[in-house]
Amino acid sequence: TIPQLIDPYARTIDYLRVSVTDRCDFRCVYCMSENMQFLPKKELLTLEELDRLCSAFISQGVKKLRITGGEPLVRRGIMEFFRAMSRHLESGALSELTLTTNGSQLRRFAHDLFAAGVRRVNISLDTLDEEKFASLTRWGRLAQVLDGIDAAQEAGLRVKINAVALRGGNDDELEKLVEWCASRDMDITFIEVMPMGDIGNEDRLDQYWPLTDLRAQLAKTWTLENSAERTGGPARYVRLAETGQKIGFITPLTHNFCESCNRVRLTCTGELYQCLGQEEQIDLRRVLRANETDAPVIEAIHAAIAKKPKGHDFDYSRQKVEGEMPRHMSHTGG
Ligand code: GTP
Ligand code: 5AD
Ligand code: SF4
Repeated sequence: TIPQLIDPYARTIDYLRVSVTDRCDFRCVYCMSENMQFLPKKELLTLEELDRLCSAFISQGVKKLRITGGEPLVRRGIMEFFRAMSRHLESGALSELTLTTNGSQLRRFAHDLFAAGVRRVNISLDTLDEEKFASLTRWGRLAQVLDGIDAAQEAGLRVKINAVALRGGNDDELEKLVEWCASRDMDITFIEVMPMGDIGNEDRLDQYWPLTDLRAQLAKTWTLENSAERTGGPARYVRLAETGQKIGFITPLTHNFCESCNRVRLTCTGELYQCLGQEEQIDLRRVLRANETDAPVIEAIHAAIAKKPKGHDFDYSRQKVEGEMPRHMSHTGG
């Protein structure tokens, strides 16, 4: 029988999110500061180490691997890693290999990703307005991302759009985004802005736009039907009766997905975070580098899962960032 990773609350952990780089070609205002200090390259897991570690997780029952960043497609040699991971799809050990990307490099990589067995990508896109896009990402070009989305669809990849809901940012584009996604047969998920790291951006709370408000705004245009569907992610879904379109909401402050949590996250430096909203972590890089065999690594993985906390702590309900997380999304991979 295949081993499984089961935590103290009887949750099966079969989903690993892996940040392969803290770097990104954009500097989204809610994610990074303008002059982000990136890690020295030697701190990063090498592609071989990433392979070894991911394969160890997969041997212990991880069935879904999501590659994140920073921007995963700016990591040099990353396609080699995707191709290497595809062997686990072929063997049936892995049921899904996927990534979350800002879309900027997809024209170059979409085809190869499909060839490596990727079938679905989540692409971050908060606005369809060129100027707004440029200011939100600080220097990103909307046209490049739209072209990347085209490339992904042409290559046969199913696309889900992730939009961070920003008051005063994209609240006037809600209907437009939904309709645009519907017209291209893409799902869309809205994410409440989360209090991550010190990014020298004191506006985030002013930007906080609760998803209950989004729902109310959508309900002016469409009939919303609650959907029981779950994809194994934290999103809750509604269906628009008129179009049949599925819309996801990720509300990190309501703790409603912790109880069915199925995931852990590996940072680009090899720390395993048991929970996005908790600071506990285990340094798997050290274990990896200290041992030539995988048994100690597997043991460390099980020890980490055995300490997975019940849920996360950050709390916006008091409208203060008391629970602010000292690390960046790009380090943990979101
Ligand atoms: P699918 O359901 O497979 O489409 O993926 P996903 O929604 O898990 O992945 P994606 O990378 O698109 O994540 C979307 C957003 O959800 C990101 O901003 C993540 O940071 C956030 N997110 C993912 N998992 C968790 C979690 O366990 N807790 C919290 N609070 N947020 C999460
Ligand atoms: N709050 C919410 N979402 C964020 N992301 C990055 N930083 C934040 C934040 N502070 C999102 C990106 C992407 C996903 C992986 O994480 O927009 O969709
Ligand atoms: Fe890059 Fe994504 Fe962070 Fe934007 S949100 S800076 S695209 S990692």
